[in-house]
Formats: sequence, C-alpha cells, structure tokens
Amino acid sequence: MNDSPLHQFGLQLLQTNKIDIDKKDKLFAQRFFTHLDEIEFLFNQIYGGHSKRNSAFDTLLNSLILCYQQRPTIFKNKDSFKEKKQNWFLSNEITGMSLYVDRFAGNLNGLQKKLPYFKELGVNFLHLMPLFESPEGESDGGYAVSNFRKIDTRFGSNEDLNSLILEMNQEEMYLMLDIVFNHTSHQHEWAQKAKAGDPYYQDFFYCYDTETIPNQFNESMPEIFPASSPGNFTYIPECKKWVMTVFHQYQWDLNYSNPSVFVAMLDHVLYYGNLGVDVLRIDAPAFIWKQLGTSCQNLPQAHSLLRLLKQCVLVASPGMALLGEAIVSPDEIIKYFGTNEAIAKECDVAYNATHMALQWDALATGDTRVMLAAQQPILQKPYGCTWIAYTRCHDDIGLGYDDAMIESAGFNAYQHRTYLKNYYAGWQEGSPAAGALFSVNPKTGDARISGSLASLCGLEKAIEWKSEIEIEHALKKIVLMQAMTMFIGGIPMLFYGDEMAYTNDYSYLQEAGKSYDNRWMHRPFILWDKNEKRKEVGSFENKIFEATKKLISMRKVLTILSDLKNMHWMPSHNIHIAGFIRSVENKKLYCIFNFKNTASFLTWFAFKEQGERPSVLYDHWSGQDFKVGNDHEYFVLAPYCFAILEKIV
Ligand code: GLC
Repeated sequence: MNDSPLHQFGLQLLQTNKIDIDKKDKLFAQRFFTHLDEIEFLFNQIYGGHSKRNSAFDTLLNSLILCYQQRPTIFKNKDSFKEKKQNWFLSNEITGMSLYVDRFAGNLNGLQKKLPYFKELGVNFLHLMPLFESPEGESDGGYAVSNFRKIDTRFGSNEDLNSLILEMNQEEMYLMLDIVFNHTSHQHEWAQKAKAGDPYYQDFFYCYDTETIPNQFNESMPEIFPASSPGNFTYIPECKKWVMTVFHQYQWDLNYSNPSVFVAMLDHVLYYGNLGVDVLRIDAPAFIWKQLGTSCQNLPQAHSLLRLLKQCVLVASPGMALLGEAIVSPDEIIKYFGTNEAIAKECDVAYNATHMALQWDALATGDTRVMLAAQQPILQKPYGCTWIAYTRCHDDIGLGYDDAMIESAGFNAYQHRTYLKNYYAGWQEGSPAAGALFSVNPKTGDARISGSLASLCGLEKAIEWKSEIEIEHALKKIVLMQAMTMFIGGIPMLFYGDEMAYTNDYSYLQEAGKSYDNRWMHRPFILWDKNEKRKEVGSFENKIFEATKKLISMRKVLTILSDLKNMHWMPSHNIHIAGFIRSVENKKLYCIFNFKNTASFLTWFAFKEQGERPSVLYDHWSGQDFKVGNDHEYFVLAPYCFAILEKIV
C-alpha cells in the first residue's frame, strides 16, 4: 500500500467493509494493493473516457471485496495449497476429461456416482460442459446461457453441483467450468429487458435501429456458422432492432464497451471462483471486442479485458486459473498468454488447437512435414502458462493453421486442405474415416470437420467392412493420437467416450434443435453396458480403455512431463515420423510417432545428434530396451506405433 489517492481510496473501501488488513485478512489486503494499480490502469485503458467509469470502477472493487468475504474457507485453504505448489496446473499428474453431464450420467447426482470410474482410468480433472440455465431446444449445447447462476434443472440443482464439488475435492480432483463470456441467450433477463425496450439493457448488447451499421460490420466480419446461422445480426421484431448475433441467432453478443457489462460479468466470474472452480474456461474470448472495419476478433481491447479479468481473479479467487478458449490462427492463439510487458499475465491456459489439427493432418497424409512447419508460434509459449492438449473435444476440427505453413512443407494449400476435408468426410477413395464437414461456407469454400475420434480414425467403417486389419489400424491410430496428446506438453484433456472408442452417434438427427448441427455426432450418449466391456479382455473397448489408462499412469510418474519447459522437435529424418524431446536439466525423453500405415525407421544418428549419445534406450510404452547401433543403423516403428524412449546407459 502507498499514499497515492487510489490506495487511500482502496483502504477506505476495505475499512468500510470491515476487512482486517493487519491480521485475519492480511493476505487478501496484500493481494488487493499489489494488483490495484494494474487494475486501475487496465480499467482506464478501456473505460477511462466513459461516463460510467467511476461508478463501474467502484462496483468492480466492491465485487472483489465481497467475493473474498464470501469465499468458502475450503477454497481459501485450497488457494494457499495451490500457491505453495506454484503453477499447480503445470503438473504431469493432471489428466482431464471433458463431458456433457446429461449424456454421460443423466445428471449431476449420476455423475457423482461415477467418480470411481474416473479414478479407475486415472482422470482427476473434469471439464463439465455448460450447466447453467439455457433454453430448451436450441441452446448450442448450453452455450446460450439464460441464467449464469442457476443450474439448469435438466442437470439437477445448485446443491447437487456443490455436493459434487465437495466430493471431487475430497478425491483431490480438479474442476473446470465455462463462463460463456461473449454472449447470452436471447432468453437471458438482460436480453428480455432489451427486447421490451429498456434502453439501459439495450446498451448491454449491440442494437441498431437500421441495417446500415450492421451491414458495415458484415463487410469485414467473417461468419462463424455460415450454414446454420449466416450473417452476424438478427432482426428482433419486438424492439424493432438489429442485434449482433455472431454465433447463433439466439446468442446475443455482449457489448463490452459498456463498463456495466464488464463488471456484471466479472461478478459471475468471481461467483464461479467461489463455487470451487479450479480452471475457468472463458468461452470465445477472441470475440469480446467489436470494432467497425475489423474482423472483430483478437482485437487489442479483448486482450486488455482478459488481463483485467486476470488481475481481478488474482485478488479475489487466486487459486482459479483462466483458460482462454481462443480457437484462432497459431500466431493469434499464443497472444492469449499475454504479450510484451504482459507476457504470462493474461490467460494461464489456452487450447493447443494448432497442434491438435496438425495431428489430424499428419494422420490423413502419413506425412509430418506440415506439422513441423507450423511449430514456430506454438513453441513461444511463456513459462508459467500451459496448453490444454487434446485430440478431440465437443467442437469441430478447424484446419486453422496458415496456408503458408502448408506451402512451406511443399504442398499446394488449396489442394492439401481439399484432400484433408475429403479424407475425413470419407469421400476420398480408400479413406477409412467416417466424419462429416461442418459449417461449409459456400462463399469461401471453408469447412471444418466433425466426427468422433474412433470414427475419424476408421473404426466405424472397419467394423462395417468387417476388416480385421482396418480394425487393427484404427485402434492403433486412436492410441497414437492420444499418446501424442499426452506427451506434447500441457494438460491432456480427453473427450468422454473416446476412452471407450465410441463411434459417431447419429441420434442427434432425430433431435429437434440439434439435427442441423453435426457436431452432435461426436457427443455420444454413454451406454454403461457398453462401458462394462472395458473389462472383457480383447474387446476393442478394453484395448482402448487399457491403453488410455496406461498412458495416463505413465504421465503421472514421469515428472519430466510437467510443463516447465517447451519441448523441442527432432529434425525430421523421415517424413512419416514426428519426434520431439521433453527435457528437464540433463534428463531427456524422446517421443517418437509413426504416422504411416507401414513400418518406418529412424537412424540412430537422429538420437546421437541430440548430443546425448545413448547406448541403450528404454521404451516406457513397450517396456523394451533398445541397443543403440551405428549411426546408419536404425530403430523401426511398426505402422501407427510410437515409443517414449529414455537413455538408461
Ligand atoms: C465455443 C464453444 C462452442 C460454441 C461457441 C459459442 O467455441 O466451444 O461449442 O458453439 O463457443 O458459444
């Protein structure tokens, strides 16, 4: 604390709120004053000239204090525990799973009963897809929230969530929930009031009387769901306004140029912190600032808002890490960790969407050159931040890496992308994949890919074809993809069903409000009878479950896999093999993956040139030792196989 008017004002606020700055609440007061200048700086940067600046800033500070006062002791203790661990989320001991509560276990109570299943698998971190109230029928899987504080009755109640969280804490599990930050449902109270003509709430959204400004925006804004929800505005007859709806027509974009919106949403963020959320997934942060003449994505003000959010969370809910769900181009994703003076001061975690897509690229082509060409931006991740490493999630696979990356690997970008789309849609001759194209944009030719891990890897068709060899390959591909995700760096996040090789679930086609969105094909209903098959030795459910379990347990003992240092790639001596090294001090782990449907080799020179000159390497996956031969002799990897090698002599 210092003598500045800001600190004196802060002190006054703490005293009014009976904060005991010398004793009981000393740590909080320290955090408050440590971050106060930065909070004010960032707030002024965005809202300095706004007529509501002062009142909104007071509300913000009061929210921080109140949230701290209401923070349950159990989570205050967990904050201290996490602080001692330092960057707890970098640990190799964490493996996550993302799931829809209703599709996985009926409701929150059902999920609580399934906690032993996660223990059996080794998963100790859950991402529960949106749980807060959203309209029945169309809700984008809950990403159209109508009440940020009330659990939707289809999942249970707020008490059920609390009970689940308490048990997860006893089991030393971590929790991730979403804050759908960019928009609300059209049924949210704010939207309802705006519709009814209340100008205060109309200013919470982007509302226009005529189409003139919407048309100007549309000129430079891309479309997110061009097939199902073209354009970026929707006409609302009740209030006779055009409202910005970037995602679906029922998702109204929040207007963050209004400070009242930011402080209201911050209060929800802090509320989630007090529920006991360990990682808060900020949905679609790339979109939160809009400006005419731009794409309205990744704007500098969006980053400032995230930094401001981070500072506030550090004060009131310090154990809660922030994940920025920015699924954008590689150069842009990396900026969500912070840039320049704010490096490592924005989001703690981001999705490694680039690498995820590149794994699918290598799997379709059997060629790892594009994967290597695109690594530069990914490797700039700062210390103290981490990735969510994933193979599949609830969304589609976007091939978001740059054309230049494809071209620098020697391919024509257009033809290469066309091949990938045809391959995964199953149109390419001989393709074993059974996916579908999502959000095809007829104007640009862009498309993304839907499909479950197992179906994209060929299991669905292989079963249909009754082909033993194709089944074998599909199973190997699933494990190869998951293995790379487990070792690349960051928190591995499995997608539910993939641990049991669920193929596409086409029941969505019969569900009103879902049939137009083929992302539902890879969001299965879990059939617990089928899951019992994990115990039948030799069934493919058993093979995949056991392999996944083994990968998770390997990670847990290999401390070298904590995300303390970025990996580095081994030079590509064979285009079918991707190899990278995870290292800490003088320990090295060589992770080698064969993306080809034939055996591929790597000369021993590839290892020796890394400086270590091993004579025997131990493969943690197969449990085999390999005697390192002469430089020109080689190590062979069977089709779609991998090895995790460590020097033992
Ligand atoms: C995120 C979610 C996606 C949703 C979108 C809009 O990208 O992952 O499922 O459609 O945000 O909320």
